[in-house]
Amino acid sequence: MTILHLDASINGENSASRAISGSIVDQLRASYPNARVIHRDLVTDPLPHLTLEAFADPSVVDEFLDAETVVIGAPMYNFTLPSQLKAWLDRILVAGKTFAYGENGPRGLVTGKRVIIALARGGFYNEGSPSADFEYLETYLRSVFSFIGIEPEFVAADGLAVSPEQRDASIRQALGETVRLAA
Ligand SMILES: Cc1cc2nc3c(=O)[nH]c(=O)nc-3n(C[C@H](O)[C@H](O)[C@H](O)COP(=O)(O)O)c2cc1C
Repeated sequence: MTILHLDASINGENSASRAISGSIVDQLRASYPNARVIHRDLVTDPLPHLTLEAFADPSVVDEFLDAETVVIGAPMYNFTLPSQLKAWLDRILVAGKTFAYGENGPRGLVTGKRVIIALARGGFYNEGSPSADFEYLETYLRSVFSFIGIEPEFVAADGLAVSPEQRDASIRQALGETVRLAA
């Protein structure tokens, strides 16, 4: 099994999304000791903004398609995903490879792949709350992956900017959930 592990936080060792995505990968490694893990750090090794030339290079989408499991650390910056992660997504939404348009509209072409996303958000964006309309991270990632045929799984640490106590509790709770996800 190949696990593709992506991180996109600018916060280095203090990053919550990196801690959670790393824990998910650790749990998966424990369940699949022979798994090969490819770690793509989109901050220390960023992909440039999309260009037509870059779009013609299939290496990023092929790496994604070759992995059975994809684990993504996704922090919320300015209500959505970091542009580093967007640059990666721009390379995996490829007509004819990950989706196709047919008579009945768009169709996802990706099957048999697990995508697990570690979300880290400073606030709370619960359904029905005043902030819910500002949530363009989880909602966007869910839409984009469903467009290519994948129902992603999420682990979220929320309210990280509320107080140090809330931050510790949210991260601890998310790390606990990673055990269940990897089971
Ligand atoms: C540049 C920047 C922008 C942020 N924007 C938001 C935001 O719009 N909404 C929010 O809830 N939290 C926001 N935060 C807080 C982060 O989501 C929070 O610190 C989280 O821990 C980031 O994940 P990380 O620790 O993995 O980097 C922002 C943080 C930074 C550094």
